[in-house]
Amino acid sequence: MKDFAGRVAVITGAGSGIGRALADRAAALGMKLVLADVDPDALERATDELLAGGSEVLSMVCDVRKCSHVEELADAAIIRFHGVHLVFNNAGVTSAGLVWEHSEADWEWVLGVNLWGAIHGVRIFTPLMLDCAKREAGYEGHIVNTAAMTGLFGAPALGPETVSRHAVVALSETLYHDLRLVDAPIGASVLCPDQVPTAIAQSQRHRPEEARRHHAPPPSQPAIQALLAADAAAGGMSAAAVADFTFEAIRDGAFYIVPQPQGLDAVAARAQAIVNVAPPADARAHLTDALHAQLKGQ
Ligand SMILES: NC(=O)c1ccc[n+]([C@@H]2O[C@H](COP(=O)([O-])OP(=O)(O)OC[C@H]3O[C@@H](n4cnc5c(N)ncnc54)[C@H](O)[C@@H]3O)[C@@H](O)[C@H]2O)c1
Repeated sequence: MKDFAGRVAVITGAGSGIGRALADRAAALGMKLVLADVDPDALERATDELLAGGSEVLSMVCDVRKCSHVEELADAAIIRFHGVHLVFNNAGVTSAGLVWEHSEADWEWVLGVNLWGAIHGVRIFTPLMLDCAKREAGYEGHIVNTAAMTGLFGAPALGPETVSRHAVVALSETLYHDLRLVDAPIGASVLCPDQVPTAIAQSQRHRPEEARRHHAPPPSQPAIQALLAADAAAGGMSAAAVADFTFEAIRDGAFYIVPQPQGLDAVAARAQAIVNVAPPADARAHLTDALHAQLKGQ
């Protein structure tokens, strides 16, 4: 996708962090914005600021776990802007802790947002964009699913997130191939940030009632979360820089969008371990000793 001005971008998780930065970048490129988030206050703040900046904005409180919500978002976008060109299935959460300590409700929550959110986005917006392409001369479209570097390698203590991210990478690779099968003027990409200082470490703020009611978070979570947050703060790339990098990658037609390439060594190590049928490589080896000591001390 080469030209953005005047075209319509849909962004989920637009109220904070990377999603908000993508909205700011899209606005700067002259795009019309469809903003979605489960957090009404964060969404209202983003909407007010982008409207004040002169952008055309449609915003909707939307829980991407719910197919009906994503359908309503798509309908509203068509009614307001008569088309969609760029979709960021970006909303996401994380839940740190030992993989066997997460409750069923927590698995359903993280997979619901990170994986089903992307599945609903792909299922609902792709046919809609294919239809737009039939009606609009010179139509260009692009779908970006936000996964993570944890979608390309294995890392300790982030079970539900890692599982969801590998699945979103696979979903995006399939989308890429299927769009080629039908010669669609629509590109696909998977965005794989590594550590970015946003509000992701406070994802628990979005933990649904049904998860809160019955289950405490994993006992190992606070210690692990603190270590991961410190690691993110130490080596992270800003959300604004991730957004700038992402739009350049879309313009270049890149599929794997990897703003922090230093993580690719761990991806290669994983692939090598698979090829050598060796034990899985630990992508966060620099954290493992501290994690081990923390958990031993518990
Ligand atoms: N920050 C990082 O280090 C990092 C690394 C890799 C991947 N990611 C991914 O990047 C994406 C953006 O996260 P972020 O870092 O900006 O975190 P963030 O917490 O700042 O933003 C996430 C946004 O998603 C929204 N959200 C949560 N659940 C939702 C739901 N059910 N429906 C709709 N919106 C929902 C939140 O309200 C929030 O505004 C996520 O998919 C995240 O997992 C982040």
